[in-house]
Amino acid sequence: MCGIVGYLGYREAYPIVINGLQRLEYRGYDSAGIILANGSVSGLYKTKGKVSDLQQITENKNTAGNLGLGHTRWATHGVPNNENSHPHVSNSGNLVIVHNGIIENYNSIKKELLTRGYTFSSDTDTEVLINLIEEMKTKNNCKLGQAVQLALNNVVGAYAIAVFDITKPNEIIVARLGSPIAIGIGENNSEFFIASDASPFLEYTKDAVYLDDEEMAIIKLGREIRVRKILNNDIVEPNVQELKMNLEQIEKGGFDHFMLKEIHEQPSAILDTYRGRLLPETDVIKMGSVDNHIAKFLNAKRIVIVACGTSWHAGLVGEYLIEELARIPVEVEYASEFRYRNPIINKGDIVIAISQSGETADTLAAIKLAKSKGAFVFGICNVVGSSIARETDSGAYTHAGPEIGVASTKAFTTQITVLTLIALKLGSLKGELSNSELHNYIQELSLIPSKVQELLKVSEDIEKIAAIYKDAPNCLYLGRGFNFPVALEGALKLKEISYIHAEGYPAAEMKHGPIALIDESMPVVVIATKKGHYEKVVSNIQEIKSRKGKIIAIVTKGDTQVRDIADHVIEIPEISEALSPLLTTIPLQLLSYYIAVMRGCNVDQPRNLAKSVTVE
Ligand code: G6P
Repeated sequence: MCGIVGYLGYREAYPIVINGLQRLEYRGYDSAGIILANGSVSGLYKTKGKVSDLQQITENKNTAGNLGLGHTRWATHGVPNNENSHPHVSNSGNLVIVHNGIIENYNSIKKELLTRGYTFSSDTDTEVLINLIEEMKTKNNCKLGQAVQLALNNVVGAYAIAVFDITKPNEIIVARLGSPIAIGIGENNSEFFIASDASPFLEYTKDAVYLDDEEMAIIKLGREIRVRKILNNDIVEPNVQELKMNLEQIEKGGFDHFMLKEIHEQPSAILDTYRGRLLPETDVIKMGSVDNHIAKFLNAKRIVIVACGTSWHAGLVGEYLIEELARIPVEVEYASEFRYRNPIINKGDIVIAISQSGETADTLAAIKLAKSKGAFVFGICNVVGSSIARETDSGAYTHAGPEIGVASTKAFTTQITVLTLIALKLGSLKGELSNSELHNYIQELSLIPSKVQELLKVSEDIEKIAAIYKDAPNCLYLGRGFNFPVALEGALKLKEISYIHAEGYPAAEMKHGPIALIDESMPVVVIATKKGHYEKVVSNIQEIKSRKGKIIAIVTKGDTQVRDIADHVIEIPEISEALSPLLTTIPLQLLSYYIAVMRGCNVDQPRNLAKSVTVE
C-alpha cells in the first residue's frame, strides 16, 4: 500500500519521480504528491486522485530540482484529500517525508508534540512522524540520520520512509520495517533512486540494495551508502544485487490494459514456472527447494496453506491437488485469521505461504507466527527477494514476471503450477501415484501452455457473452471439486474489477440458499468439465434452467449435453480434472475483463483496491 519514489543526483528529478509513481500506482491511487528541491523547495504539489492528476496540476509550474520525493497513496489515516497527501513537511519547513505503512502509536506521540507547541495540518500518522523526527533533531542537536533513528525507536507500526532536510540537499535517509524499499545506485554513487520496488529505476541502473526490516540507510551523493540497524546502530554491509527485470516486462506491449497483457502472458508464464523443474523426457520433477527438505515433506502429518485473496484461492486448488495426488492432509487458512486465532501447529506440520507480491502483511505475520511455533515454512512467491521470500525456510518462485494489473491473473495460474509440481513430486515419492499416472500428468502439464494459447483464441466469443451480461447486478459462479476454487476466483475477478456483486459456490451448495436468488435476470457461470462430477453438475444446471436463470457453461471440447441446455458454452481443451483449473480459469478472467471494460471501469486500478497490501 502506497508507493514511494525518490531521486538524488545530477538529472532533473521530476520526470523520474513522476514516471516512477506511475509504475507504482498499483500500490494505491487515492492521492499523489511530489516535492522538488535544489537547496530550497522549488515545488510541493499534492492532489487527491491519480498521478495523472498530479501531472496536470504541475503543468507550467516550477518543477526544477535534482532532489525529488514522490508518493502515491492508499489511504489509511485520514480521507484522501490534498492535506492528507504526502510528502509531509515538518513545522520548521525543513524536513520532508514520504511514508508507506502505519504508525500505530501516532495518537499518543501527537498529543505529546501538541503540548510542545507543534501544529498539524493533516490527519495523518506521517505528519506526526516527521515532527517527531524534528523534535529529536532539535532536542538532541544531532544529524538527520540520528534523529530519524531516535524517532523510529519510539514508534510502533510499519514503515518504509524516505526523509530529507531541505537545507542539506545532498542526503536522503531511508528506513524500513514491514514495508519494502529498494535503493538504486548510479555509477560511482553519482545518483541514487529510492522506490517501493525497483521498477521506477530500471532504465537507469541495474544495481540495487533492498533494505531488510529494522534497517536504515544514509544516502549521500558521491559516497557509498551506509546501512545501519535502527535499534542499535550496528553497521550492516549493503548487499548490492543485480536486477534481472527489464523495462519491456513492465510495459503494456500493445495491449489496452496490463490485465489483458497478463492474461495473454499465461502460456509463457506457466512455461517459465515449470521450466527446468518439469522434465518430461525422464518423468522427473526437480525442485531444489523441495528436494533439499524432502524428508520433512514426505513425513509431514499435515500441510497448512496460508494466503490472502487470489493466492488463497490458489491455496484451495493446492489442497485438492495435494490431498488427491499425494494423500497428505491439507488445511487452507486465510492468513489474517490464522495469525490471530492461536492456531495449532504440531511438530511435523509444514506451512506453505502463497503470495504474489511477497509483501502481504497478514501472510508475513502468519509466517512469523508459524515459525515461532516451530513449523517449517515454505513460500510460493512471484517477487524475487520479497519479504516473504526471505522470511520463509525454503520456497519456489513462480517466475510469472511482474504482475501490474491489480486483479491477479497470471500469478494465480503460476501458483497452481508450482502446487501441481509439488503435489506430483510428493505423490510419486510417497507411492501414491504409479509411474504411468505420473507420466501422464507430466505429459499433460507440459501441454498446458499450448492449450492456454488455444483457449485465448476464443476471446471474441467471450466478448460477445460479456456484452449480453455487462449490466447484470449480480452473478453466480458454480463449480465442484478442483473447480470450486475456480468458481470463487471467477466471482472475485468479476466483483473486483466490474463492481458487479458476484458469489462463488460449490455447485451442490446452491440448493442451500443461493437458488433463492435465481430468476431470469441472474447469469450463472457453471464449470461443467467432462471429468468433474459431470452428471451432478448437469443436474444443477437443470435446476437453474427450470428457474429461468441464464447459464454460461465452461465445458470440455465436444460436449453436447450441456450445450443443449445452456444459454452459452465456452469450450476448454480436454484435460484431466486435477489440471483443469489451469484452463477453466482463463475464460473467467476474460469474461470479467470484457465486462469491466464495457462498463467503463478502470480495469488495472479498480477503486479502493491495491495490489500489495502491506497493512493489516
Ligand atoms: C490484494 C490484491 C489481490 C491479491 C491479494 C494477496 O488484495 O488485490 O489480487 O490476491 O492482495 O496478495 P499476494 O501478493 O499476497 O498474493
